Amino acid sequence: MGSLEQNAPAGRGKGVETVAGTLREEVPVASNLVAAGGAMEHGNHHHDGVGVGGGVVNGLMKKRKMIPLPLEVGTRVLCRWRDGKLHPVKVIERRKLSTGPDDYQYYVHYNEFNRRLDEWVKLDQLELESVEADEGEKFEEKAGGLKMTRHQKRKIEETHAEEGHEEFDPASLREHEEFTKVKNISKIELGRYEIDTWYFSPFPPEYSDCNKLFFCEFCLSFVKRKEQLARHMRKCDLKHPPGDEIYRQGSLSMFEVDGKKNKIYGQNLCYLAKLFLDHKTLYYDVDLFLFYILCECDDRGCHMVGYFSKEKHSEEGYNLACILTLPPYQRKGYGKFLIAFSYELSKKEGKVGTPERPLSDLGLLSYRGYWTRILLDILKKHRGNVSIKELSDMTAIKTEDVITTLQALELIQYRKGQHVICAEPKLLEKHLKAAGKGGLDVDASKLIWTPYKEQGG
Ligand code: ACO
Ligand code: ZN
Repeated sequence: MGSLEQNAPAGRGKGVETVAGTLREEVPVASNLVAAGGAMEHGNHHHDGVGVGGGVVNGLMKKRKMIPLPLEVGTRVLCRWRDGKLHPVKVIERRKLSTGPDDYQYYVHYNEFNRRLDEWVKLDQLELESVEADEGEKFEEKAGGLKMTRHQKRKIEETHAEEGHEEFDPASLREHEEFTKVKNISKIELGRYEIDTWYFSPFPPEYSDCNKLFFCEFCLSFVKRKEQLARHMRKCDLKHPPGDEIYRQGSLSMFEVDGKKNKIYGQNLCYLAKLFLDHKTLYYDVDLFLFYILCECDDRGCHMVGYFSKEKHSEEGYNLACILTLPPYQRKGYGKFLIAFSYELSKKEGKVGTPERPLSDLGLLSYRGYWTRILLDILKKHRGNVSIKELSDMTAIKTEDVITTLQALELIQYRKGQHVICAEPKLLEKHLKAAGKGGLDVDASKLIWTPYKEQGG
């Protein structure tokens, strides 16, 4: 899907690095959407007499007369995003400001972007002339219709289809979105980073009135105020996750934490992770899970980079439940490392595995990238025929995932009731080049681990 990222420079403030984890341009075509800029303003009026350049002295005053304020929840309108361009949004929620009786802020969803970019905006970011009272697709069609080609529209649709929503029925998806529609915590401080959050997380009610939470980077307990955290840090004697170190490679370490032995840690981790995971149920029953925490270690301690969770016993054959790389560490290969690690554990168990569904948009990209590279590497080196089953046995990747990956690469054909791999060396080379860099490798010889079952679990 090309490079979707528009990385924000990590600023510095109050001794913590600020990571605008939400600054991603999800859809490459988005910047062209209203490239005409004013085209929308000039060409798409629905309110007679609100013409720009039509002798309007005070545009806003005049607009306010025509469009009832405050805007209703559900209104569709164009909003100026941080890229300086106008994008179609839907108003999800509104709240009164203390600055005046008619002052409101609006929580908006950008139609073309993932929900992690939803945010509170001020009225002056909204292009009131574009207000569309009608619900539904009509407005997007119009906004898109201005500049979007059919190809661009399809890209947007595909992106949305890949967002991991497809396995929810419409009613439960609506219910999920209603309940989690507004982010409750907008920032967290963790170690030396301040991180913008992506999604709602069901913190206990006493935390519902705070915008920012402060986490102890070692035991993951969280508090509302910086002074409380400072007090905690003086007392907390952890310098790494509370579990066994099962892997060390240079400054990288992986710890295994048993949710049953470290319940509070497991719960805290789930609250934290949910801030960056959309469609994941929060498991209060952390007893049933093992958590694999990846850390970068230095003389101050082991700093969490990301993690994945794994059910102790999965009936569905999942080898990973949730995976997260914390935003300051994303796009550096840690995600692929975590994925590779989960398959190394499966190999030790003598099983094949697959990640729990649904996958998020970024989860899908990462898994597809991982599967592609691993399978292409084997096909390139392998002499003679190799079957899907053999590929699966070698990699611990479930056969269904092997098939979908090879199908997407058009390296597989269905002949006489059988899948046949057709791997031309030239084609393999081309795909391998396109698959990009491999990321951090897991050195299986450094893994010191006994599967849970054999630990007596
Ligand atoms: N834009 C475009 N492609 C991306 C992006 C992005 N923002 N982020 C990752 N990718 C793709 C790329 O193909 C990348 O490979 P490349 O850098 O070689 O091009 C590949 O994913 C993996 O990149 P990594 O650097 O190895 O992965 P990262 O450390 O960023 O972690 C992860 C990936 C874990 C999915 C991360 O994005 C994340 O934590 N997201 C939020 C939580 C989430 O969605 N988790 C998955 C849910 S599904 C589940 O849990 C089963
Ligand atoms: Zn602590």
